[in-house]
Amino acid sequence: MSTEKLEKHMKKIIDSQYQRIEKMKEEKDFIDYTTLRPIVVGLIGGDGIGPYITEHTYQVLKVLLQEEINAGKIVFRTIDGLTIENRVQAEKAIPDDVLQEIKACHVLLKGPTTTPRAGDKWKNIESANVAMRRELDLFANIRPVRVPEEGIDWVFYRENTEGSYILGSQGICLDDELCIDFTVTTKEGSDRILRAAFDYASKSGKNRVTAVTKANIIKATDGKFLEQAKIIAKEYPAVVFDDWYVDIMAAKLLDTKRRDQFKVIVLPNLYGDILTDEAAELQGGVGTAGSANVGKKYAMFEAIHGSAPRMVEEGRAAYADPSSMMRAAVMMLEHIGFTQKAKQLSSALDQAVIFEKKVKITGREDGATSEEFSEYVMSLM
Ligand code: IPM
Ligand code: MG
Repeated sequence: MSTEKLEKHMKKIIDSQYQRIEKMKEEKDFIDYTTLRPIVVGLIGGDGIGPYITEHTYQVLKVLLQEEINAGKIVFRTIDGLTIENRVQAEKAIPDDVLQEIKACHVLLKGPTTTPRAGDKWKNIESANVAMRRELDLFANIRPVRVPEEGIDWVFYRENTEGSYILGSQGICLDDELCIDFTVTTKEGSDRILRAAFDYASKSGKNRVTAVTKANIIKATDGKFLEQAKIIAKEYPAVVFDDWYVDIMAAKLLDTKRRDQFKVIVLPNLYGDILTDEAAELQGGVGTAGSANVGKKYAMFEAIHGSAPRMVEEGRAAYADPSSMMRAAVMMLEHIGFTQKAKQLSSALDQAVIFEKKVKITGREDGATSEEFSEYVMSLM
């Protein structure tokens, strides 16, 4: 790469980040769902097992929210186009017409979407998840993990729009010998995720926030995140604050003497990606976890696992476990203020997968189908 080209590339990157900072500063308030009628929920099936588990979650929601639907408080809209075939054809992570449909909703419930990898049959387009988080500015990735019998009740607040992700496809190889990637932390971006975490810790009564970085090594960006965390912590004197480096934090999540002390964990994008998979594994695997992607204007709720194309190829899609999507639906109901309905679904799910376990999903013919499972959940609501 010539020096001139390099300078241009760097200038473009820096300008785009300053523009993003300006936009973040303009958007101050969260949308108020209490006065919003109807709340429009977009259902995005996605790829692989996605459309199956989305459909069964929708069936449950239709029963749960019958009155609200009839009263016109909430409307469900199916968005079909976010498939790998369409995305590859449009050569876009989210085709323009699909993005328009998405932006016409208030909140989204989304199945997993396939991300092409080097060497597979798809052209290499950007991940639809990463694009959606950026396009809708969904800066808070909230991932709860609970193992009641061990006292584990964690809520991860993963920064979702910057860090190593934002310029993930704009790294440079200067020649065959040297490649460089970029990671970005802004004061504004750190501030908003940290505030969201502290706010939640204080309102939920959890009263403890742990920030996770590698600020001893990644000094500029992680240093900034940690510095900002300490500033916000001072605004919440009733919330206990501490900070850990990501390596030892990964270990401490496995320390049975210590781990029940953690409550709300706030961290930059990549560390959040990694630690939330580790944490979900303790709860029974990534298939059991739901995830909220929240911004000031939009919010998207999804399962944290992949699209499991092999299950579809082997004719096992009807046996896919919809409980992660249903957990995501619980988070959605909470987010839009349907608190009672959220509790109703959440305790039916706890009953179905933790306590009673009368209908078991194995992902194969020896287990229940997603349909049987969702009927079971409905019977427990
Ligand atoms: C997640 C996933 C995504 C991520 C992928 C699918 C792009 O691993 O939501 O944690 O890396 O953020
Ligand atoms: Mg991940």
